[in-house]
Amino acid sequence: MNIHIEENIKLAPFTTMRVGGNARFFARVNDVDDLNEAIIFAREKSLQIFILGGGSNTLVSGDGFSGLVIKIEIKGIAYKDNRVTASAGEMWDDVVRDAVSRNLRGIENLSIIPGTVGGAVVQNIGAYGVEAKETIFSVEAFDIKKNEIKIFHRDECEFGYRESIFKKNKNLIVLSATFELAQHSTPHTDYEDVKKYFEDNEISEPTLSQIREAIVAIRTKKMPAPPVGTAGSFFKNPVVSAQKYNSLKNEFPEIKAYDQGDNTYKLSAAWLIDHVGKWRGTRRGDAGVHEKQALILVNYGNASAEEMLSLAREIKNDIKKKTGVMLEEEVVMM
Ligand code: EPU
Repeated sequence: MNIHIEENIKLAPFTTMRVGGNARFFARVNDVDDLNEAIIFAREKSLQIFILGGGSNTLVSGDGFSGLVIKIEIKGIAYKDNRVTASAGEMWDDVVRDAVSRNLRGIENLSIIPGTVGGAVVQNIGAYGVEAKETIFSVEAFDIKKNEIKIFHRDECEFGYRESIFKKNKNLIVLSATFELAQHSTPHTDYEDVKKYFEDNEISEPTLSQIREAIVAIRTKKMPAPPVGTAGSFFKNPVVSAQKYNSLKNEFPEIKAYDQGDNTYKLSAAWLIDHVGKWRGTRRGDAGVHEKQALILVNYGNASAEEMLSLAREIKNDIKKKTGVMLEEEVVMM
């Protein structure tokens, strides 16, 4: 066997949340052969598998994980015309920075989102009016059941809000993704914070690098940086019926929501947690709600996984009681 399987490895340092117990087994994989070996090892020992990328959206339980954690470290970035193919283990923002420096457009609004390319695809990351799926041309994934590599074209990826076939089907492990970028395309600068940034800075036709600068400035102002002790948005923005939205709007006239165009509304969970629940800035020991963005839960030092989850549970119960809306976690629980 080529790969080195480690035992009883602390997982907290492999996640940005910095909580949780040990992995019984832990393997770093650099290519599909390594991955295959790791899977065979798990199969022989009847172990569950958990795929870890940058650990920026994962919350490890206090009990850790009794199976095999596979950390994807497959590297490589290649350009062909306006397409860039990036391996799952590349850091997402390295790809964005590089694309912007080559004047390739399409992913600049997703600047400085932590995590790997694999995570970006699985989660269909999104920010400032853009989702990863819009530029994904295809995804190469390893099917561990069929033991084969398969190419998924965008339409086969079942992308949704922080959703994809790779998130739903645990047998599929992302190896790389190809993004279709463009030399010329209309920038997405109509998102509230972005628009305001360019107005404040009196920039009417921002260049590509100015857009990246804007996103970096907006994110670093609102989000903990470096992203340690957090997993970004802890909850998803809940989608409700137009009827539910209207009744909430009656009760909370200032409520923030985005019309989805299909008789549903996506509610701002940050707004609900902040203005309905008044949770922004609240702390329970080392577990807290970020003071600048209420959707972000922060481990300020030595909070345990249980303390983070207990704070999350309190928030969910409170919002449910006050609005009837049940928040769902965006972070993935290991
Ligand atoms: N707001 C508040 N209080 C707060 C923060 C925000 O009332 O403490 C209100 C503001 O009115 C603001 C609105 O909520 O205009 C939306 O806030 P924001 O622009 O920060 O975006 P979000 O909906 O909270 C989503 C994504 C983020 C992404 C931002 C920017 C989800 C779950 N989160 O947050 O993604 O960066 O939009 O586009 O969809 C992530 O997924 O981890 C993540 C950080």
